[in-house]
Amino acid sequence: MSEPGPFADELLAGLRARPRAVAPKWFYDEAGSRLFERICELPEYYPTRTELALLDRHAPELAECIGADAEIVEFGAGASRKVRLLLSALQRPVGFVPVDISGEHLAEAAERLRAEHPGLIVRPLVGDYTVEGLQLPPPAGRRVGFYPGSSIGNFEPPWAVRLLERYRRWLQGGGLLIGVDLVKSPALLHAAYNDAQGVTAAFNLNLLARANRELGADFDLAAWEHAAHYQPSLQRIEMHLVSRCAQQVRLGGERFDFDEGESIHTENSYKYSVAGFQALARRAGWAPQAVWIDGARRFSLHWLQPASTEP
Ligand code: AVI
Repeated sequence: MSEPGPFADELLAGLRARPRAVAPKWFYDEAGSRLFERICELPEYYPTRTELALLDRHAPELAECIGADAEIVEFGAGASRKVRLLLSALQRPVGFVPVDISGEHLAEAAERLRAEHPGLIVRPLVGDYTVEGLQLPPPAGRRVGFYPGSSIGNFEPPWAVRLLERYRRWLQGGGLLIGVDLVKSPALLHAAYNDAQGVTAAFNLNLLARANRELGADFDLAAWEHAAHYQPSLQRIEMHLVSRCAQQVRLGGERFDFDEGESIHTENSYKYSVAGFQALARRAGWAPQAVWIDGARRFSLHWLQPASTEP
């Protein structure tokens, strides 16, 4: 068991609140990151392969937008498949700064990229890019941000605007390439978050397993179930952990009572129309320049530039 820290504080606060909720960033311990990689390979989870196909198909146009001699800053760099596609399409990329809250994948991915691109300055940075105060190293070239995977969808829209504003400041006048999942048929969305193999359920439940491992909580995993549904009026998938029975859980010396059917809200995944996302980006001071969409209109890749050079 580790010392109480931000995870303990946030989980305790989330369990005391009504409705109960925990931020999705706590999914990603080592086990959670491995489960997320498995989600990305699932037949039902279309975002990863659709975005990879867009990056591959439109590589020359992306390279033209980004230009030569760029330093790519990837926010939330996990497995490096997407950025490898991007880097190999670019002309003389000078640097790569993968930023992630967990250092586990970063060093490994950095080694591979150094081997593939001799001369590329790779400077991994372990830190939380979702909060103010992250210190990026001094630029090694013209900065360009990369934020794939529709992770922007995991933020409430006002927070997504703040995050995009922060990126604009950190990128110091450079552009941003961002992947955004699109509004689509509820049936497709439902399948993507309720896969037949139960990997998404295991990913969701791992949050409780993590609380047991790291904080000494006594969640009985068999007494909880995964639930994910689409809320059309809010254009978001909601994920919850639902108590199968009336039960008590102990954490940090506190007792929490749950009714049968009571839930802990663990994630929102907002879906956007192209115009809806562009409006959000404009609110954060970005000027949308180009957008690429797959033939089935499932996923979008946006190229944004600062609306002005003002911070
Ligand atoms: C990381 N993020 C964009 C994923 C999503 O689709 O919202 C996380 C995820 N949750 C369940 N499946 C995937």
